[in-house]
Amino acid sequence: MSVSWTLDCVACGTSHDGLDPRMTCDCGGTLDVAHDLDALRGRVSRRVFDDRRGGRDRLDRSGVWRFRELILPDVDPDLVATKPEGNTNLYDVPSALADWAGLDALQLKHEGENPSGSFKDRGMTTGVTAARLHGATKVACASTGNTSASMAAYAALCGLEAYVFVPAGKIAYGKLSQALAFGAKTLQLDGDFDSALALVRAICRDHGVYLLNSVNPFRLEGQKAIGFEILSDLGWRVPDWIVLPGGNLGNSSALGKGLLELKALGLIDRLPRIAVIQAAGAAPLYRAWVDDAVPVPVQADTVATAIRIGDPVSWRKSLRAVRESRGLVESVTDAEILAAKARVDGAGIGAEPASCATVAGIKKLRAAGTIAQDAHVVGILTGHLLKDPDVVVAYHRSDAADANPPVQVEGTVPAVLEALGLR
Ligand code: F0G
Repeated sequence: MSVSWTLDCVACGTSHDGLDPRMTCDCGGTLDVAHDLDALRGRVSRRVFDDRRGGRDRLDRSGVWRFRELILPDVDPDLVATKPEGNTNLYDVPSALADWAGLDALQLKHEGENPSGSFKDRGMTTGVTAARLHGATKVACASTGNTSASMAAYAALCGLEAYVFVPAGKIAYGKLSQALAFGAKTLQLDGDFDSALALVRAICRDHGVYLLNSVNPFRLEGQKAIGFEILSDLGWRVPDWIVLPGGNLGNSSALGKGLLELKALGLIDRLPRIAVIQAAGAAPLYRAWVDDAVPVPVQADTVATAIRIGDPVSWRKSLRAVRESRGLVESVTDAEILAAKARVDGAGIGAEPASCATVAGIKKLRAAGTIAQDAHVVGILTGHLLKDPDVVVAYHRSDAADANPPVQVEGTVPAVLEALGLR
């Protein structure tokens, strides 16, 4: 079988065969799926992509595969593992939330509305399809929770054996329960995400297991479709900013790569500025950005367990996305994340803590004057509120000013009326 793409090293530029099973270059650099954009030019248009939405075809119904020429062109449809994913809501948020962030208006793309409750499904549909292209029967990932939930679901759908490596006690219950429910062999390991990732990479390399972390370049091809879909949702009007959280930095890398491809193909004429928001306790990219240096690994700690990552794999690709889009990197404290989360949840939209780093970051950048009040801002919410119910209940039982604690009431009419303030 031959394919139209190559795997190009981001660090040294060496080009490898598109189906080479390697995950990194000999120099250690991460790989990009490099498409032959000139050959694809005549096959893609805004119209082709928009018209597929709402179609009946199995691939057209996916918010990833309706952009298939820019994802994995000409892949055998029978190999495609799709639930389908994508086609998530782009909310015009209530004015109270936009006001709180300091903006005239704000739009939030809710990737928590994917089938397994996070944006990871967009990357997993392509990752598991690539696993099948490579003839793999066993797949594995290290995870702070969402990648494992998604991988376990897609693997089960396709009859692949799934191995999940998670840091013991450091992943939210909603996510752990998904991995277990979908039948993945789930290993809880001492240490953190970064050490679990090093371990799974070694196991996969030497024992014939296909790695599905975002160091796998095929994962990012699917995640690119978040950007494609935002543009399609907006009638291809380019927003001023797209803001998203950063952990292992696959998602910001994917977003930037996809937008650069759209621009190279003339589907958009400029890039939105990409702002990557890290939790202050897990912010190696932010430090590198401020210091204009290479990221130094840190011991990560944050309430937003999804982005509790100290040694991000895709930092080079992420910085490329930020630089080429004239974007930036910012960090926010746990208190800022939880305050933003209370607002996002209270607006009836809801998202898990890491997602709300997006809105906390927007508020901070607005307050600093970096984002203008009338700017067109799209924030990405990456995971569903129900992924991490413990954080929600603990917050609302705390003495936070906007806590909404449950009220224990005797089951009588007078007591209920009293509790509701109705008498
Ligand atoms: N938001 C959520 C909800 C996540 O689960 C993750 C990453 C991110 C943001 C950060 O995205 O790593 O591409 O920069 N979660 C991974 C996991 C690491 O294992 O589920 P990133």
